Amino acid sequence: MSVDLENLDIDKPIVLVGMMGCGKSLIAEKLVSAMGVALYDIDAMIKDDEDRTINEIFADEGEAYFRTLEADKIDAVLAEGLCVISTGGGALKTPRTLENIKEKAVFVWLDVDIDTIYKRIKDDKNRPLLQGDNPKAKLEELLAAREHLYKQADIRVDNSGDPNDTVAEIGDKLSFFLTPKVDIEGCHP
Ligand code: S3P
Repeated sequence: MSVDLENLDIDKPIVLVGMMGCGKSLIAEKLVSAMGVALYDIDAMIKDDEDRTINEIFADEGEAYFRTLEADKIDAVLAEGLCVISTGGGALKTPRTLENIKEKAVFVWLDVDIDTIYKRIKDDKNRPLLQGDNPKAKLEELLAAREHLYKQADIRVDNSGDPNDTVAEIGDKLSFFLTPKVDIEGCHP
């Protein structure tokens, strides 16, 4: 069954997770434009708040500082009801983030193979964790360390093809999360 994304009867946020370069930002934009709900892009919110780039935050303060900002932001937006939240690829490393997302959201893993990810982001200088000598090996290492977290998602969708197909597939799979309706007439106390 496919759901009407414009009238989605779900009362919790839809959170996109997955590796850097898996297409979370694009899919998030497509979902919010189909659904007419708010978009919370966690990296963009952190950059705005801090008035510096993610590279600068990592370089100036270290990864642990960034992870605390990230977890706090995610906690705050999880209270927003139906919306779309695009997270950074390492967000689930923070245990409270994983627990909160599992409890309060429908969470969607955009699964893309490393070769495709590498082709997409090999020239991108905005990802501090990939600025070493062998970014492809680093991507493989990060995926190996994170795959067990992504695998806990409610919905897994391959996003190596047409992003419009990905959105349609998310719509299909969201039908399992519709808010149950109480049938008042059939209810006899
Ligand atoms: C990170 C992914 C980045 C950003 C930061 C750390 C990661 O977000 O949060 O550079 O640990 O995988 P994207 O997944 O949007 O690239």
